[in-house]
Amino acid sequence: MEEISPINKSGESLKIRLCLIALFAVITPALHAAGPGKAAIASAHYLATEAGHEVLANGGNAFDAAVAVSSVLAVVEQTSSGIGGGGLWVLHRASDGFEVMIDGREMAPAAADKDMYLNADGSVNRDLAVTGPLAAGIPGEVAGLDHLATHYGRLPLSESLKPAIRIAREGFPVYQKFFGMLKYKEQDIRRWPAATQAFLPDGKIPAMGDVIKLPDLALVLEKIAAEGRDGFYTGGTAQRLVDGVRAAGGIWSMADMAGYTVKEREPVRTSYQGYELVTAPPPSSGGIAIAQMLNILEPYRLAELGKVQRAHLVVEAMRRAFRDRALHLGDSDFYPVPQEMLIDENYAAGLRAGIMYDKATPSDMLPGRENLPEGTDTTHFSIIDAEGNMVAATLTVNTIFGSKFMVPGTGFVLNNEMDDFSAKPGEPNAYGLIGFTANEIQPFKRPLSSMTPTLMLSEEKLAAIGTPGGSRIITMVLLGVLDFMDGNGPESWVSLPRYHHQYLPDTVFAEKDAFTAEEIAELTAMGHTVQVRERPWGNMHGVMWNRKTGEVTAGSDSRSDAGRAIVR
Ligand code: GLY
Repeated sequence: MEEISPINKSGESLKIRLCLIALFAVITPALHAAGPGKAAIASAHYLATEAGHEVLANGGNAFDAAVAVSSVLAVVEQTSSGIGGGGLWVLHRASDGFEVMIDGREMAPAAADKDMYLNADGSVNRDLAVTGPLAAGIPGEVAGLDHLATHYGRLPLSESLKPAIRIAREGFPVYQKFFGMLKYKEQDIRRWPAATQAFLPDGKIPAMGDVIKLPDLALVLEKIAAEGRDGFYTGGTAQRLVDGVRAAGGIWSMADMAGYTVKEREPVRTSYQGYELVTAPPPSSGGIAIAQMLNILEPYRLAELGKVQRAHLVVEAMRRAFRDRALHLGDSDFYPVPQEMLIDENYAAGLRAGIMYDKATPSDMLPGRENLPEGTDTTHFSIIDAEGNMVAATLTVNTIFGSKFMVPGTGFVLNNEMDDFSAKPGEPNAYGLIGFTANEIQPFKRPLSSMTPTLMLSEEKLAAIGTPGGSRIITMVLLGVLDFMDGNGPESWVSLPRYHHQYLPDTVFAEKDAFTAEEIAELTAMGHTVQVRERPWGNMHGVMWNRKTGEVTAGSDSRSDAGRAIVR
């Protein structure tokens, strides 16, 4: 067993932390006075990455490019995100170092009720919670795009939505991931005629390379391009959506639509090895969990440890952060999330004290409760423009093709984000995640997310990172951040073999290449249950600017065929 001597951090922690944050506040504007001179965009689809660069070439900045990338993904990757869903955009403005998170997360409609998915016998009706219009929250993506364009971009929506409108009208070729997901979800899609017509033209799964056209979606996007958020949340589009949802058993109202607003949120900030991390606050659990795990891990000098010892400690940090996620996290506008406590280094020191260097802590021994299957969908992209503005954005319709439900005449699926609430205390959702009061359903509340769009900033390097993958988002981002801290670039973060622990089930899930048989035997001897999964997970996209060398790099996860990272 290796010697581990965690440096004593908690005593000096507050002072160092305040000094670092003050230092960042002073140096950040100066730091970014001169940009990298070129731009990098990495996203889950080549057409979206190209659209971002097109908008930059037409005079837009990273925030306009984010509108273009988001909206093209909303056309070509409806498995994962869309204007029927929502998203979180973490922004860094180069001119003054200002950072903010744009919260365009979906919202529960006014008629939502905490018991709305319970059968008469008290069990959860999983079908209603994930399929069809009752599963859908009021979408936030369009309000997010409008807000980005109006407050941070240089171009009107009519410019930055052009690529999406063109692609919706002219079509895009079916690619491997899209094809695979259509096959996987065909039966659920067939339950809804408009979705069937859009994605199964001629009544069957299109072949690879066949062109999918979405003319109804092009019209909806044109209205948004002309009228901004009002073109979606009020008037004809809103009426069509509300009527369509209600006719199929949903509970949306025109007032829910008109009342939807974007929230600007102060990001979660934490420091690690001289970097400031700027990441997602509630209604996401991601940023708090990342801060908490890094606080637990920092004193361990991970870079000096062997692979198994390092993985053991990382898993122990994951286990503890996910226990707190289940107990304490929800929409902070509705529930008093103890954020300051959770990201405090003294609190982390307490959690660290319970970690044994050579033995797994059974999750049952941690005060708290239960339960994960596979991360499914959502999308992420990262951008840095020539001036040094950055965006890390994670967008979602929740599970693959969201609720599968499409209102006739719209061309886009609605999310099933209501399943990110806890439908019943302790009852697992689609990701096996549990929750309690903090994340129970309430009218107008936003469901707890795991999305973790994250920026990493220092005098030397600026980077953006994130990924889809349900509850595994958080642990993938953690592994990516630790790889960045080891000195590696985006190509490395996105291709790292992954492992994951989420408190319950008390199992380390591992991709095939994450550990050798000997390493698994060593982890098992420490008390871990390791389960190797056949299917890989995640679809990470990152960008980095090394100010010292001037190099701008980007990486796109090879686990999906369509992603593309381009520096130009
Ligand atoms: N719907 C996945 C998430 O927000 O975490």
